[in-house]
Amino acid sequence: MADHDLNSNSLPENQAPNADGNSASENESDVSIDSLAKQVQESLSLAKRHKFWETQPVGQFKDLGDSSLPEGPIEPASPLSEVKQEPYNLPSPYEWITCDMESTEMCTEVYNLLSNNYVEDDENMFRFNYSKEFLHWALCPPGHYKSWHIGVRVKSSKKLVAFITGVPARLRVRDSIVQMAEINFLCVHKKLRTKRLAPVMIKEVTRRVHLEDIWQAAYTAGVVLPTPISTCQYWHRSLNPKKLIDVGFSRLGARMTMSRTIKLYKLPESTVTPGFRKMELRDVPAVTRLLRNYLMQFLVAPDLDETDVEHWLLPKEDVVDSFLVECPETHKITDFCSFYTLPSSILGNANHSILKAAYSYYNVSTKTPLLQLINDALIVAKQKDYDVFNALDVMQNESFLKELKFGPGDGKLHYYLYNYRLKHVLRPSELGLVLL
Ligand SMILES: CC(C)(COP(=O)(O)OP(=O)(O)OC[C@H]1O[C@@H](n2cnc3c(N)ncnc32)[C@H](O)[C@@H]1OP(=O)(O)O)[C@@H](O)C(=O)NCCC(=O)NCCS
Repeated sequence: MADHDLNSNSLPENQAPNADGNSASENESDVSIDSLAKQVQESLSLAKRHKFWETQPVGQFKDLGDSSLPEGPIEPASPLSEVKQEPYNLPSPYEWITCDMESTEMCTEVYNLLSNNYVEDDENMFRFNYSKEFLHWALCPPGHYKSWHIGVRVKSSKKLVAFITGVPARLRVRDSIVQMAEINFLCVHKKLRTKRLAPVMIKEVTRRVHLEDIWQAAYTAGVVLPTPISTCQYWHRSLNPKKLIDVGFSRLGARMTMSRTIKLYKLPESTVTPGFRKMELRDVPAVTRLLRNYLMQFLVAPDLDETDVEHWLLPKEDVVDSFLVECPETHKITDFCSFYTLPSSILGNANHSILKAAYSYYNVSTKTPLLQLINDALIVAKQKDYDVFNALDVMQNESFLKELKFGPGDGKLHYYLYNYRLKHVLRPSELGLVLL
């Protein structure tokens, strides 16, 4: 599947699972030599790069593998009186604004900036199209700070040209619960790129996070920066293979016809697990218990309470979908699965303008095998007309990806912590965190 990851900066691979569910690629060796060359090139020039990130309290490349360095905060918290009180300077045509994401007008402005300027795949065929409802959900969780929703406007025209956000989260790193900011939606208008505005945005959000006495952050990026705590991969499960092929998201596998491909990805009309149903408000306590218990096994995971679960996991139309298995006899909640909705704009296709994608979120299996649970999630996503179901190789996802006919995407997603060092790079399966 030549699946175009919107978080990647590498070339697509021609990897359509064939009828055996294996990857078939005629130019696999070329691709791997290319990517190896790229990696070598990258690592050779790494030392000279990152003029900004080298100045920040993040793991530095030179310290990779140095296990004498302690785990935990890189710099101690400062007294609040020592935090810079004024915003960082912007070039004079621009001004800072705090975005009120509860206002529909502001949400629309942010939506317009992102839908025209946010993440694209390397070939500029697709661009993330987070909905306004999604943005409101992602940015206004319990305890959010309005001051962490930061925009930059052109003073004269008032046009919004840059954006960055944080939301508060408690993350557990091994045994420590750490208050953090989850940083997301960094975006600079296409016409203002490569002018070093991004470092100013990052410093300003950091300052505002510090003002709330929070000193750590978590973020993900498709680009390599100093230094990933883990590097994950997106996998894609075709639900509407014809459309995916028509729009260039995936390619017909070697020796495959369209009708064989459609047959390969066909799913049952309805879910198979007895007691499988949509999550409701009354399920929040049981789901919280299930999830908290499940997430304990990962080295880095969110520390979720009932308020968090209600916000992040209670179904919200076209934003987040959650299902659980209630044992028909005991009425015990035994399993849980969820996905969020993140469509992409299809750029320059005459027949289709939107790719409807579901992204695997948090899943817990205690009784229903994970494979069967996710297969039911695929069935629901198909019923709801999603074109593709995406999943990272985090948590226990590796155990179902190949078997459920997901194909690997073409890029990586790197996870980062700000001002927190880990002794070792984590395997994706040690990560219990999904950022939006
Ligand atoms: C990401 C984006 C804001 C960077 O802006 P830019 O104009 O390209 O880059 P600037 O000249 O302002 O800044 C470059 C610095 O920002 C860093 N940077 C670039 N992308 C970054 C990211 N996603 N996260 C953190 N830092 C990033 C660069 O590494 C560089 O710092 P360095 O010299 O220490 O390496 C811009 O390219 C953009 O809006 N892209 C589309 C949306 C996107 O990809 N957002 C990030 C999602 S994770």
